[in-house]
Amino acid sequence: MTEVLPESKSSKGTYGGALLEVDNLHVEFHTRAGVAKAVNGVTYSVNAGETLAVLGESGSGKSVTAQTIMGILDMPPGKIASGEIRFRGTDLLKLPEEERRKVRGEGVAMIFQDALSALNPVFPVGWQIAEMFRIHRGMSRADAKKKAIELMDRVRIPAAKERVSDYPHQFSGGMRQRIMIAMSIALDPEVLIADEPTTALDVTVQAQIMELLAELQRESNMGLILITHDLGVVADVADKIAVMYGGRIVENAEVHDLYRNPAHPYAKGLLESIPRVDLKGQELYAIKGMPPNLLDMPTGCAFHPRCPYRQEKCVTDVPPLHTISGTRGSACHFWREVLDGDAQ
Ligand SMILES: Nc1ncnc2c1ncn2[C@@H]1O[C@H](COP(=O)(O)OP(=O)(O)O)[C@@H](O)[C@H]1O
Ligand SMILES: [Mg+2]
Repeated sequence: MTEVLPESKSSKGTYGGALLEVDNLHVEFHTRAGVAKAVNGVTYSVNAGETLAVLGESGSGKSVTAQTIMGILDMPPGKIASGEIRFRGTDLLKLPEEERRKVRGEGVAMIFQDALSALNPVFPVGWQIAEMFRIHRGMSRADAKKKAIELMDRVRIPAAKERVSDYPHQFSGGMRQRIMIAMSIALDPEVLIADEPTTALDVTVQAQIMELLAELQRESNMGLILITHDLGVVADVADKIAVMYGGRIVENAEVHDLYRNPAHPYAKGLLESIPRVDLKGQELYAIKGMPPNLLDMPTGCAFHPRCPYRQEKCVTDVPPLHTISGTRGSACHFWREVLDGDAQ
C-alpha cells in the first residue's frame, strides 16, 4: 500500500519543533538620547493551528518583535543585538535577503498595526489585492482579479464581485480591515501575525474581525499571533498568551490558566482592568504608574515601581522566568504569593 501524503502544509517539511520560534531575542534602538532596549530576551513560539496572544501596554516591544520576525525592522536606529528567529527550524536572521523575502508573505505574513491607513486611496481595492498575485505569482490581470474576488469572498465581504472595483473610502472601517486581512492571506501564509487588528474599530466590529481571523485560521490551519493591548479582545480566540512588559515576557500561560489565576502581578493588573459585563457600575481597576522608560529601566524587576507585591529583592534582582508547570512561567520572585492572591 502506498501512502499518499495529503496536500497539506505538513508535507512541506519534516521539522519537528514549533513552526515559528522567537528565541531570546534582544533588539535595541540607538538614538541620540541613548540606547533604548526595546526587546530584552523575548522567547515565544507558535505552531500550525495554534493562536498565541502577545499582550502588553503600548511600548512593551510587541511590534518591534513582530517587525524583527518579518525582517522589516528599521535598521538603523534598530539593531538586533542577539537571539534567533526560527521558521521551520531555520534561523531567519541568518538568511540572505533574497531567501528572507520568500518567507515574507508566503511563510509568515503580517497585518500591520496601522493597516487601515495602508490602503491606497486612488486604486480600487480589488486592484490592490490583485497586485499580490500579479507581483508574487506572475498572474495575468484577469486571473488576478478573479483571485481577488475569491479572497474578498473568503473574508466575507458581501457582493465581492460587484465591489471589487470600489475604492477604499467606499468601505467601512471593518470592511477595510477585511480587505487588509485578504491581502495578508493572499499567498496562503503558514503563520499570520496580526498587530492590533481591531484597535481602530468599534467594539461590535472588533468581535467580528476576531471571529473572521479565527475562522480563516481553522480553514487553513495557520499559526496565528495576535498582538494586542486588550486582553478582553483575544481571550475567546487565543490558546496561549505571552504577557510582555518592558521588552520582556513576564508571564507565559494557557489562556484559561491566566484568566483563572494569573501568576504575575502585571498580568493580574491587566486582567482586573478588563470591563466585565456581569459587574455593572463597577469601578475599573487601573494599574498605577507609568510604563518603564526604556532608556533608563528600573533596577531589578522593571515592574517593581508599580507592583503591589514589591519587596526588597524586587528592587535589586531581575527575576528570571520561573517555570510554574509545563509551559507556564512567571518572571516574578513572588509568583506563589500572586497565585495565592495575597499582596504584601
Ligand atoms: N523606529 C524607532 N526608533 C526608536 N525607537 C523605537 C522605534 N520603534 C520602536 N522604538 C522603541 O521601542 C519601544 C517598543 O515599541 P513597540 O514594539 O512599537 O511597542 P508596542 O508594544 O506598543 O508595539 C518603543 O517604546 C520605542 O521606545
Ligand atoms: Mg505596537
